[in-house]
Amino acid sequence: MSGAAARLSMSGIRKRFGATTALDGVSLSVAPGEVHALLGENGAGKSTLMKVLAGAIRPDEGSIALDGAAFEPRDPLSARRAGIAMIYQELNLAPHLTVEQNLTLGIEARRAGWIRSAAHRDRVIRALAQLDRPDIRPAAVVGNLPPAARQLVEIARALMTEARVIVMDEPTSSLSLADIEHLFNIIHNLRAAGVSVVYISHFLEETQRIANRYTVLRDGRSVQAGSMSGASIASLVEAMIGRRLDELFPRVPRRRGEIALHVDEVAGQRLPKRASLALHRGEVLGIAGLVGAGRTELLRAVFGLDAVREGKIRITAISGGGNSFAAEFRPSPVRSLVRGMGLLSEDRAREGLAASRTIADNMLLSKLAPLGRWGLVSPAAARRESQKWIERLTIRCRGGDQTVRDLSGGNQQKVAIARLLHHDVDVLLLDEPTRGIDVGSKAQIYRLIGELAARGKAVLVVSSYMPELLGLCDRIAVMHRGMIVETRAAETWTEHELIAIAASGKGAAGA
Ligand SMILES: Nc1ncnc2c1ncn2[C@@H]1O[C@H](COP(=O)(O)OP(=O)(O)OP(=O)(O)O)[C@@H](O)[C@H]1O
Ligand SMILES: [Mg+2]
Repeated sequence: MSGAAARLSMSGIRKRFGATTALDGVSLSVAPGEVHALLGENGAGKSTLMKVLAGAIRPDEGSIALDGAAFEPRDPLSARRAGIAMIYQELNLAPHLTVEQNLTLGIEARRAGWIRSAAHRDRVIRALAQLDRPDIRPAAVVGNLPPAARQLVEIARALMTEARVIVMDEPTSSLSLADIEHLFNIIHNLRAAGVSVVYISHFLEETQRIANRYTVLRDGRSVQAGSMSGASIASLVEAMIGRRLDELFPRVPRRRGEIALHVDEVAGQRLPKRASLALHRGEVLGIAGLVGAGRTELLRAVFGLDAVREGKIRITAISGGGNSFAAEFRPSPVRSLVRGMGLLSEDRAREGLAASRTIADNMLLSKLAPLGRWGLVSPAAARRESQKWIERLTIRCRGGDQTVRDLSGGNQQKVAIARLLHHDVDVLLLDEPTRGIDVGSKAQIYRLIGELAARGKAVLVVSSYMPELLGLCDRIAVMHRGMIVETRAAETWTEHELIAIAASGKGAAGA
């Protein structure tokens, strides 16, 4: 691509945060009407580079040109006015404001305050219409929306302005298949209108479908760029991690034991509706289903975060000296933890992590049971313990005393995983455990989960990423409209079948 024709050209961008070099002379060039995939491991510098473009971070060195003219955004608002729209990875909406207020925020900020004009209203309605989700209403308060809807509102916000470049930082991580298709249609239309899109995703199959060209970042440097049509997934992965990935789904031999968790016709306030399952020790059981099928609600009800209206939950945990006890109980998070059950929440920002606290605090302290067996640790022991997890999960950071907010999105997710693993529970409920995590680290986490099962733990995994369920789990259950409609050994499922049953709720013949 010739420099003269570039819509966006970034060159020699450097950025340090204290002792961390996030960007070490990165270059990126994007043509008009091009979808450009920006790839790289967790912490490679993708979000930082795009925040520089969007005026949210000032670079230490380097230059940017937009359609041939030098561009130095002073702040996010001036970048937005110059035609840069950004969909942030850690959603950037104001939770207490409505959808409409969020969409017009910034565009019409006047010192005098809030001015609602007919033209703005019109644009709001048009931007929302592109999403094809009439259930997301302009007057809805954003904080009350589920993660998928919040992500769509963030997308609509980017469509509000006449953008020259739209940056999408992991836009699909909590979207349903149907919403992803809509987003891809929107991207096709943008492309046809000459808008450039920078697309960041750890779903490489997705980037292959949608992008024309790509750039790979590694350790804050641009290491490879080229045409997407000439690139294989394996070659992209190799450029990202600097070596071949031998196995995405390492199998750890394990044996299924007795039942550890029995969920018997459990119904929540709205979802789930009479869901039943039996999870064994030494087993990884996956739950497939469409967004809205009630998978997250099932985990939350079992763990005790949401009220259970009907049904029984029985957990058989090995306590202390190895005596097992069985208890039917009205769940509550504290009771669950005490009985040896832990939850990795889907909503990392809301109930997963304390962003302003350190990595070590987040890993070692428990909000729910501050004085449990893990609560009493000396500072030196805490440092050793957090360092162990940082190494086991290759968390990219300066050390355990760094605040979680300063970590890249994928590395924050790893901290949330480390926290659950540190609590050493017997029954693990994992909701979208590898969301935002790069391929190399995914393989590492799959191995860890396999090892936990091999040690006799019971693992329940909700995931929207079908290859993950098929590669990781021993059995897969499909949930449809609040009920589990079919459960079978993983090797008897195909991706196509999982999607078909998740959509229709109709089980195949026999089990
Ligand atoms: N405000 C900050 N203070 C300190 N370090 C930071 C800050 N922002 C980012 N970093 C560091 O810069 C590096 C690059 O982070 P960045 O968020 O750009 O990664 P990424 O490629 O987007 O990763 P991911 O795939 O996990 O989202 C990381 O090591 C991160 O910890
Ligand atoms: Mg990022």
